[in-house]
Amino acid sequence: MITANGNYLKLPGSYLFSRIAGKVSAYSETHPEQKIIRLGIGDVTQPLAPAIIEALHKAVDEMGQAETFRGYAPDLGYAFLRETIAKEDYVSRGCQIAADEIFISDGAKSDSGNIQEIFSRDAVVGVCDPVYPVYVDSNVMAGRTGNYNEQKGCFDRVVYMPCRKENGFLPELPETAPDLIYLCFPNNPTGLAITRDALRQWVDYANKNGSVIIYDAAYEAYISGEDIPHSIYECEGARTCAIEIRSFSKNAGFTGLRLGFTVVPKDLVRGGVVLRDLWARRHGTKFNGAPYIVQRAGEAVYSPEGRSQLKDQVAYYMRNASAIRSGLADAGYEVYGGTDAPYIWMKTPDNMSSWDFFDHLLEKVQVVGTPGSGFGAEGEGYFRLTAFGTYENTLEAIDRIRNL
Ligand code: MLT
Repeated sequence: MITANGNYLKLPGSYLFSRIAGKVSAYSETHPEQKIIRLGIGDVTQPLAPAIIEALHKAVDEMGQAETFRGYAPDLGYAFLRETIAKEDYVSRGCQIAADEIFISDGAKSDSGNIQEIFSRDAVVGVCDPVYPVYVDSNVMAGRTGNYNEQKGCFDRVVYMPCRKENGFLPELPETAPDLIYLCFPNNPTGLAITRDALRQWVDYANKNGSVIIYDAAYEAYISGEDIPHSIYECEGARTCAIEIRSFSKNAGFTGLRLGFTVVPKDLVRGGVVLRDLWARRHGTKFNGAPYIVQRAGEAVYSPEGRSQLKDQVAYYMRNASAIRSGLADAGYEVYGGTDAPYIWMKTPDNMSSWDFFDHLLEKVQVVGTPGSGFGAEGEGYFRLTAFGTYENTLEAIDRIRNL
């Protein structure tokens, strides 16, 4: 008899944001009169920029004409988008990335969950703690666990790299190098960024030890500091050790439209195998391409109008981040992040646990955030707020928290 994939049973009962959604909907059913302000999941609230809407309309019209209709998209994505990305995101920053090293997808969440498939089952995985849960869960689902270490409270094939206040919420190079290292900068959930010099140390470490870095740069559009890299390929040597994942969700408001891409350089070779070719093989087998109209919308992100409109959109969210940071700091809270990223990482007051603080805010002031412990043991005692709400709701939420 067939049995279920037991690895799924090693995971928590539900995905973090599903658990939060469940709690919030239970609360609103019993308190329908209350206005809940959601600063939990990092979902955007501003409408798509006019340049993107225009590109969507145009592409929809093309799909309605026999001469311009398109069926399946090419495996890697349309050349018009891959070439634009290579030029605008990489070559213009001095990074040597070619269009055929870029794979268009339906978003960074899928890519960050799927990328582990091209690595061996016995790989040891290094993740930051706290961490975006997809990196860990997708490896556990694939059976990359080993035994459960009761003492440490984790699987022995998953190595947690603590990111604490004491180390500036930045991971330290592990003594024993993991095979796969997930790094996300600017960081979800702490909202902290890494400097180019610090990232270069990770690149050197990975090259020296034969590790591969999976670099999630979904929040790069929010960087303001000159010394903060937008791509890992700004570091010399990254072509031989790093895969980069990018998203249109946060830089262009595509959370509901879905578009992302992954870069796998041809120089990334392990055990004589060119990993780019493996990812191409996987893409060709399991994915039939992002929709044509969405890829055209992605192209519009790089047009002069698109760029200027999205700069304003990012500034809108970063004004929220600044209001959250200063509002909470003035009220005596300890706050981190929020200057190069749309997330604010705050210490819970009076040593409350993260989930207790979540319940407290929901019940007393109807503000929803994300408990830090949902991102890992080191997140206990912390709480994440997102800057992706509307400005008015953000100000109201901060006022409510200040008046608690
Ligand atoms: C988050 O809130 O951490 C993100 O929105 C989740 C995601 O991008 O999948």
